[in-house]
Amino acid sequence: MIFFYLIVLAIVISAAYAGYSAAPWVPTKPAQRQLVLDHLTISSNSRVIDLGCGDGSWLFTFAAKYPQIEAIGYDISLLPLIIGQLRKSFSPKLYARVHLRLGNLWQVDITQTDVVFIFLMKKAYPRLVTKLATLKPSTLVAVEAWPLPHIKPHQTITGPNLLPVYIYQGNQFHSL
Ligand SMILES: C[S@@+](CC[C@H](N)C(=O)[O-])C[C@H]1O[C@@H](n2cnc3c(N)ncnc32)[C@H](O)[C@@H]1O
Repeated sequence: MIFFYLIVLAIVISAAYAGYSAAPWVPTKPAQRQLVLDHLTISSNSRVIDLGCGDGSWLFTFAAKYPQIEAIGYDISLLPLIIGQLRKSFSPKLYARVHLRLGNLWQVDITQTDVVFIFLMKKAYPRLVTKLATLKPSTLVAVEAWPLPHIKPHQTITGPNLLPVYIYQGNQFHSL
C-alpha cells in the first residue's frame, strides 16, 4: 500500500513541478494536430522533438504519417508519460521510432533536431528562446498558442476554434 501512495505522490509532485517549470499538462486537441499535419511538410527522415511532450500525442500523430521519422518526447510529469507509454505498447510496430523519455526540457540537447514542437506557457519563453539559439539554422520550430516575443514567424497556421501555431526557423534565434 505504501508503494501505491509513493507512486501517487511522485505523480502529484512531478505534475506540480511541470506547472511551475514551464506548463501543466494540457493536451493539444486532435483537430489541432491534424491541422498542423495538413500544413507542415517535413522530410521523411527528420528527427522530431516535442519539448514537454505530455502523452506524446504530437509525436504519435506525426509518426503515423511519417513512419521513418525519429520522434522523441521529453516530459517531467509522470502521469502523461505513463499514458503515452501505454499507448505506444498498443501499437509497438507503428510507433517503434517514437521514444517518450522522462527528462527536463531545460537540460536536453536539441542541437541535432530537425523539427521542434513547443506548447508551453509564455513565462517559459525568455529561457526557451536562449535554448532555441542552439538549434541548427534549418530546424523548424512549431509553437502552439502564443507567438515568441520579438520574432516574426515564417508561417501562422490557424483554424476555426483552434489555437494558432507559429512556425519559425532555427536561424532566427541565432542573432538574438
Ligand atoms: C501544455 S502541455 C503540452 C503537451 C504536449 N506537447 C501537447 O501539445 O499535447 C506542456 C507539457 O510540458 C511539460 N513540462 C513542463 N515543464 C517541463 C520541464 N521542465 N521538462 C519537461 N517537460 C515539462 C508538462 O508536464 C506538460 O506535459
